[in-house]
Amino acid sequence: MDTDVNSRYREVIDANQKVLTAMAGVYNSSEPHFRPENIAQVTAKLQGIFSRTGARRLLDLGCGTGFIIDIAKHYVAEIDGVDVTEAMIRQVDCTGNADIRLHLADAGEFPVAPGTYDVVTGYSFLHHLYDIGPALATAARALRPGGEFYADLEPNRYFWDAIKGLNPAVSYDAIIERERASVLERDTQIQEQFQIERELFNQAEYNKNITGGFSEEYLTDKLLSAGFRKVSVFYYWFLGQAALVNSPQHPREQCVLMAGLCADTLAKGLPLTRHLFKYLGFVATR
Ligand SMILES: C[S@@+](CC[C@H](N)C(=O)[O-])C[C@H]1O[C@@H](n2cnc3c(N)ncnc32)[C@H](O)[C@@H]1O
Repeated sequence: MDTDVNSRYREVIDANQKVLTAMAGVYNSSEPHFRPENIAQVTAKLQGIFSRTGARRLLDLGCGTGFIIDIAKHYVAEIDGVDVTEAMIRQVDCTGNADIRLHLADAGEFPVAPGTYDVVTGYSFLHHLYDIGPALATAARALRPGGEFYADLEPNRYFWDAIKGLNPAVSYDAIIERERASVLERDTQIQEQFQIERELFNQAEYNKNITGGFSEEYLTDKLLSAGFRKVSVFYYWFLGQAALVNSPQHPREQCVLMAGLCADTLAKGLPLTRHLFKYLGFVATR
């Protein structure tokens, strides 16, 4: 890494440590991915990965307070969690039967014995990096042949571009305005709630707020160059899904069913519909 790139890389780590230290106390209760319905979906994804790989050893990059560890410890024997923010990692619950080891380190520099893990995970993590290359290299080195790297809750560049392309002078339907605020005004909301400078927050979520998210093509290229042989990208959380799920006009069960049907239909329309999904994730096979 040249000196300039290296110093930008360190600045983003530093921003993460400051921002996540300020948010750590309320992180689990304020982040929507801790809602039971999301935990159920992530559990189903992990169960599939664990059973395909016969997983025993898991490496969780950017483990935070243990969102993935809390699920995975019921299925695998050994877990290594890596994170740069002490205030986050301190909250990981290490109880249970799995052997859980925590490491305060940059995922891109974490030393791994090659081919010693069955699964690597990174949930809501990659967009916090200035350069995803070193973390992908760690994931690739860590996995044995056939092992899987699962990353999720990453910003879909096509959605970010579509939101940024809206006419600022026009007031759109509430389902668009809600997302426009979540993309363009999140830094202001965070500043008000946590007294974290907007610029610092944007640095911490560098590959969301500065570069505008990841495209499927970019991630696939980077993963293949890092040594993965197969990449499967999935999209989810379509524009208006929250309004549909919470619609007061129908019983909740019906709303959830309808949202599922809409999501399936829009997914069938890929790639034409890809700008309608806010998030993407992938499973990459070593
Ligand atoms: C949004 S949180 C996600 C935490 C957890 N995976 C979850 O889903 O709740 C992102 C985490 O990545 C960590 N992080 C940021 N840069 C990192 C790096 N270079 N190496 C390891 N962890 C990092 C942050 O400290 C933070 O805990």
